[in-house]
Amino acid sequence: MAKILLGVGGGIAAYKAVYLLRSLVASGHEVTPVLTEAGSHFIGAQTLSALASNPCLSGLFGESDPIPHTHLGRSVDLICVAPATADLIAKFANGIANDLLSATVMASRAKVVVAPAMHEEMWDSPAVQRNLQLLRDYGYLIVPPSYGPLAAGDVGRGRMAEPSVISLYVEVALEDRGISLWGKKVVVSAGGTREPIDPVRFIGNRSSGKQGLALAKVAAVLGAEVSLVTTVAQGSFPSVTEVLVSSAKEMDEALTNETAGADLVVMAAAVSDYRVKEPSRSKIKRESAAELNISLEANPDILKGLVKAKKDGSIYIGFAAETDDLEVNLRRKLESKGVDIMVGNDVTRPGAGFEHDTNSVVILSKDGQRAVFDDLSKEKIALEVLTFASRLFDRP
Ligand SMILES: Cc1cc2nc3c(=O)[nH]c(=O)nc-3n(C[C@H](O)[C@H](O)[C@H](O)COP(=O)(O)O)c2cc1C
Repeated sequence: MAKILLGVGGGIAAYKAVYLLRSLVASGHEVTPVLTEAGSHFIGAQTLSALASNPCLSGLFGESDPIPHTHLGRSVDLICVAPATADLIAKFANGIANDLLSATVMASRAKVVVAPAMHEEMWDSPAVQRNLQLLRDYGYLIVPPSYGPLAAGDVGRGRMAEPSVISLYVEVALEDRGISLWGKKVVVSAGGTREPIDPVRFIGNRSSGKQGLALAKVAAVLGAEVSLVTTVAQGSFPSVTEVLVSSAKEMDEALTNETAGADLVVMAAAVSDYRVKEPSRSKIKRESAAELNISLEANPDILKGLVKAKKDGSIYIGFAAETDDLEVNLRRKLESKGVDIMVGNDVTRPGAGFEHDTNSVVILSKDGQRAVFDDLSKEKIALEVLTFASRLFDRP
């Protein structure tokens, strides 16, 4: 597990840093909080010390360590600043090092994750936007703020991302894959489709959409603009736009729209192979017949159809849930569907596939690469899949 410095600046969102701290410690990381002088007007150093792995530090001078900024800067794997005020962002961008937090950021080679928090007017100011661009150029990971309630009853852009979102940025940054999807348009499908039998019943499957959601989130953390076509409402995540669908037909239509011009398409949804030929317009009553026969017809193969319209240089990834002969089926699908990568999971394995938070997969690519990943969180599996894909982007 990693050594993390959590920098807390002087904004109302400082209270959310406490939840972030708890979640980082719960994930097994060793966390040292550093609170700015302004930050101490919003939360107490005592609160941070009590919850962190190490005592909260604040001063550049007068701490027990005579040179705290260089020692701290060298000892940590990652610095996460949340909330990052307009002031801190300006200091990091311009090399100002006049307090413990800014001096440590300057004196460190660790990865830096910055979660800005401020009122909409501050966020929109050209100075803040220019400074953020400088931070991106330096390789800092910026966690986009969201639209929502701000201080003093205001609502707008600039609300600090939720602790769970910042945690995911931290975990991805710690993996340090050296990959980026910045400027890429990514489309992910998620969830199981529902084929109507009548207005109240459907034929469905056990897909929860968790793997698709993890893929969408991790792609967004890596810098992509993501469109998530899903049958399960997933809640908001920065840079992920959700398109809610239900049946395979709706999913096909939405994906045809969304994938136009896409750089990377990941089909993680479990799409029904069949649909009811003639769904009833009214609820089928038990009294109407002792036996019910429902006639099914095949749905189109969505992935095969999308691949035909694929733009040059784009990468298409298919997912296959199998119960037997995983690799044989995966290899066959890799060839027949015309995709660049197939990811397969044996859904009969304990802790893998439908509804679980973990997964085990085999990844095959059409250039002959193969990898196996067992018992990882769906976010970690997503990072492995996207690392595989980004290698194909980098191919000459
Ligand atoms: C009530 C109050 C709330 C504030 N909230 C924010 C904020 O959310 N974001 C921000 O950039 N500055 C905010 N400020 C201004 C900062 O506290 C101020 O710029 C301070 O110098 C930042 O110091 P620091 O960057 O060292 O933490 C707020 C100030 C006050 C009085």
